[in-house]
Amino acid sequence: MTQDVWSAVDRYVIDHLVPEDAVLAEVVATSDAAGLPSIHVSPPLGKLLHLLARIHGARRILEIGTLAGYSTIWLSRALPTDGHLVTLELDAMHAEVARSNLARAGLADHVDVRIGAAIDVLPRLRNEGQGPFDLVFVDADKASYPAYFEWALRLSRPGTVLVFDNVVRNGAVIDEGNTDPNVQGVRLLHELVEASPHVDATSIQTVGSKGYDGFLIAIVCEPAH
Ligand code: SAH
Ligand code: DHB
Ligand code: MG
Repeated sequence: MTQDVWSAVDRYVIDHLVPEDAVLAEVVATSDAAGLPSIHVSPPLGKLLHLLARIHGARRILEIGTLAGYSTIWLSRALPTDGHLVTLELDAMHAEVARSNLARAGLADHVDVRIGAAIDVLPRLRNEGQGPFDLVFVDADKASYPAYFEWALRLSRPGTVLVFDNVVRNGAVIDEGNTDPNVQGVRLLHELVEASPHVDATSIQTVGSKGYDGFLIAIVCEPAH
């Protein structure tokens, strides 16, 4: 079983369960045209994020790592009419593409795209009194995942769902000698989650059009402040 099969099965799942969507197709097209990297979540994973938000009844969502707004749109479409999503993006050009995509999707009133290094913006969010969030999706620089975990807890309540993308990294997550800061980041994330009394979690390996990776999902299970 290799990449060809994984991609073909992703295609099958998309054809049956993730209907072609003009707005999302436009997001990918504008992202490619602007030269942004093609590293958005796959359509089935975008749909999973959307379903998780709906299953959970999320009203306030925090995302770290916007890119062109692809996952942002999947998550925002799960919000009720008075719901809100805050998404953090380091690169002003990415944020600009995302804002125009969110406007085209009719979601501009529900989404706040904040430009800056997430590690600087997260304390500002807390000082503004934002949160607690119902769901936090983390998909930015993997080396900072340990820090984002601590901030996600500070901006959470018991019951908040945390999702971290790309934590398996082609299996490198189990390589303790790996010097890649991204790998070290996802390894330390697992150790912090293991040691934390504030979350209950698992990680799920995934294959698909984007190769072999996975996500960590956690629920905040007691007051984390
Ligand atoms: N969630 C998006 C993909 C995000 S790609 C989707 O699935 O559609 C990762 C994004 O994180 C990139 O746009 C990158 O510019 C941004 N990023 C990288 N480092 C960051 C940081 N320190 N703070 C905020 N955003 C960061
Ligand atoms: C990269 C980042 C991602 O969030 C992802 O899902 C795939 C790749 C990257 O930085 O290469
Ligand atoms: Mg990702």
